[in-house]
Amino acid sequence: MNSILQFDHVTCRFPAMASGGRRGRDFFTAVDDASFTMYEGEILGLLGESGCGKSTMARMLLGLLHPSSGEIIYRGKEIGHLSDRDYHPLRREIQMVFQNPFGCLDPRMKVKNLLLEPLRAWKIGEGDADRMKRVLQMCEECGLPEASLDKRPGEFSGGQLQRIAIARTLLMEPKLLVADEIVSALDVAVQNQILQLLLNMRRRYNLTILFITHDLAVIRKMADRVMVMRQGRILQTGDCGAVLDQPDDAYVRELRTAGFWML
Ligand SMILES: Nc1ncnc2c1ncn2[C@@H]1O[C@H](COP(=O)(O)OP(=O)(O)OP(=O)(O)O)[C@@H](O)[C@H]1O
Ligand SMILES: [Mg+2]
Repeated sequence: MNSILQFDHVTCRFPAMASGGRRGRDFFTAVDDASFTMYEGEILGLLGESGCGKSTMARMLLGLLHPSSGEIIYRGKEIGHLSDRDYHPLRREIQMVFQNPFGCLDPRMKVKNLLLEPLRAWKIGEGDADRMKRVLQMCEECGLPEASLDKRPGEFSGGQLQRIAIARTLLMEPKLLVADEIVSALDVAVQNQILQLLLNMRRRYNLTILFITHDLAVIRKMADRVMVMRQGRILQTGDCGAVLDQPDDAYVRELRTAGFWML
C-alpha cells in the first residue's frame, strides 16, 4: 500500500486567551504531537468528541492553518508550512466537504454555474461543451436530476445540497478528500444515502478519504481504519472493527455502552 499522507509529530497551538489553557499557561494545544499515515484508496475515520481537535487537524491538512511544529507530508512533499501561493496548486487535489453545504454554495448562483465555475477556474475540460458534459455525467452519478441545474441552492433540501457539494468537489478530480461531519445535519435515512454515494464514488474515483465524525455508527459504515482522538491527542489507530470492538478510549466505550454502535 502506498502512503499518500503523513502527519509527523504535528502540534497546533492557539494563544490561550482565545480558548482557555489546556497544557501550559500561555497557549492552548488543540492538536498535540499527532502522527499518522494515510494510504492510497483508504477511508480513514477520525473519531472523537466535540472540541478534541478534529477540524483543526483538517484545517492544517487543507493549508488553512500552519502546524506550530511537526511536518505534514503529502505525496513525498512537506505541505504544512507552505505559503498560500505555494499551497494553491494542491487546492484542486486536496478537497473538503463540509457539514453545512449551504455555507459553501453561493445562494445567488444556479447549480449549473456552481458546478461549471470551478472547472473553468481550474481549466479542466476542453471548452464549455466538454465541461457541461462532465457536469451532466457527475450529476447523474450523484443522483441529481438534470432539472436541478437551473435551480438555486435555496430550492433544495439538506441532503440534495450535500449531493451538489459532493458533485462539485468530485468534478475537481481530487486525490484526497476531507469529509468533516458531512452527514451530521441530516436525518438517518438521508445520511445513509449520502454515505452510500460517497462509498460508490470512492470506488469509482479511487479516492482517499479522511472521514471525520463523532458518530460511531457512521464510522463503522464508512471507515477501513479508524483513529480515536481525545483532547488533541491520537489515542488509538487501527482497523475499524478492532478499535471499535476493543476501544482504549473512555469516550468510545461510552458511545458503545449507550448502544449507538448498534444503529
Ligand atoms: N482559531 C482558534 N483559536 C483558538 N482556539 C481554537 C481555534 N480553533 C479551534 N480552537 C479550539 O481548539 C479545540 C479544537 O477545536 P476543533 O474545531 O478542532 O474541534 P473538533 O474536534 O472539530 O470539534 P467538533 O466535533 O465540535 O467540530 C477547541 O477547544 C477549540 O475551541
Ligand atoms: Mg469540527
